[in-house]
Amino acid sequence: MVIAIMTSRIIGTGSFVPETVVTNDDLSKIMDTSDEWIAGRTGIRERRLVKEETTASMSAEAARRAMQNAGVTAEEIDLIIVGTITGDYVTPSTACEVQAAIGADKAVVFDINAACSGFVFALITAHAYLNAGIYKTALVLGAETLSKIMDWNDRSTCVLFGDGAGAAVVRADETGIMSFDQGADGSKGMVLACRNRVNNNPFVKNDIVHDYVSMDGQEVYKFAVSTVPKSIQKVLDEANLTTEDISYFVLHQANIRIIQSVAKRLKVSEDKFPISLDHLGNISAGSVPILLDEMNQKGMLQKGDKIVLSGFGAGLTWGSVLVEW
Ligand code: UT7
Repeated sequence: MVIAIMTSRIIGTGSFVPETVVTNDDLSKIMDTSDEWIAGRTGIRERRLVKEETTASMSAEAARRAMQNAGVTAEEIDLIIVGTITGDYVTPSTACEVQAAIGADKAVVFDINAACSGFVFALITAHAYLNAGIYKTALVLGAETLSKIMDWNDRSTCVLFGDGAGAAVVRADETGIMSFDQGADGSKGMVLACRNRVNNNPFVKNDIVHDYVSMDGQEVYKFAVSTVPKSIQKVLDEANLTTEDISYFVLHQANIRIIQSVAKRLKVSEDKFPISLDHLGNISAGSVPILLDEMNQKGMLQKGDKIVLSGFGAGLTWGSVLVEW
């Protein structure tokens, strides 16, 4: 008797980015920066920033596009997980808002806070449910409105980030996710942080009204270039594959120099590392699924291709997934 081994497969992708394009030159008109500095240090040339759009509205549109791409209806969705640190409300979750917007009435829904690893963590969580036979079809998203948590007087952070949402429909199947790795180092949490609202109950006195993202860029950089290659190597080893077997490494889009360094450490051509940060900047949890959707729309992914998705960032957190397309 042949017993089918269950895993889960990405069967469709979708994304949405805001209309408003902000170039490095636009930023240099309102702060002491330049296209030369931003593009030279990071590879970022422009980003999209919200005006009317919200984390939930972008997520819902990305979800609709992913469902259309996958050919599934809202009634078929059992589970919605959104990786985000910039939901529109503390509660309800972005996943609840998406559920209502697309009418996925029977879905179990929640958000995951794992910053730039958010989509990868959400994908692994959905995989665990599907692999266990609990649910059949999941919508997994990474979505951020980072522009609302930036200090627009801090040129060392605000020029790096952008807004947007990406989604994938994932279904229980016999092939698909082959291996994964994830981890966290909470002891380094303050390297990249943004405090939630402070307590102002009548019995405490707090001067802090708002807080914004603060970052020790070089610490994050060092963490990324040392941790990501190891995480990728782990998922390859677990699946008994080498870098030669992989068509693309879809990395979180923080900095072109991080991506180049990871490629070098893995001894892989940079051509296997697709890029969206040049036109979208760093969208935290949104980066990986939006880039994956761009690749899918361009026809870059063929059935049977093996690709590695890898997220890393605040927490500190990291995660990689080896996927057969
Ligand atoms: O999703 C994860 C999120 N974070 C990351 O991935 C960040 C990883 N880190 C990095 O990408 C890099 O560390 C940065 C791009 C953030 C910074 O690059 P760096 O080469 O580490 O620059 P730095 O912080 O050492 O700053 C160098 C100089 C400083 O001036 P002085 O002190 O040398 O005179 C900064 O004040 O660049 C200056 N600077 C800027 N100049 C023009 C910082 N930001 C800017 C700016 N425009 N926007």
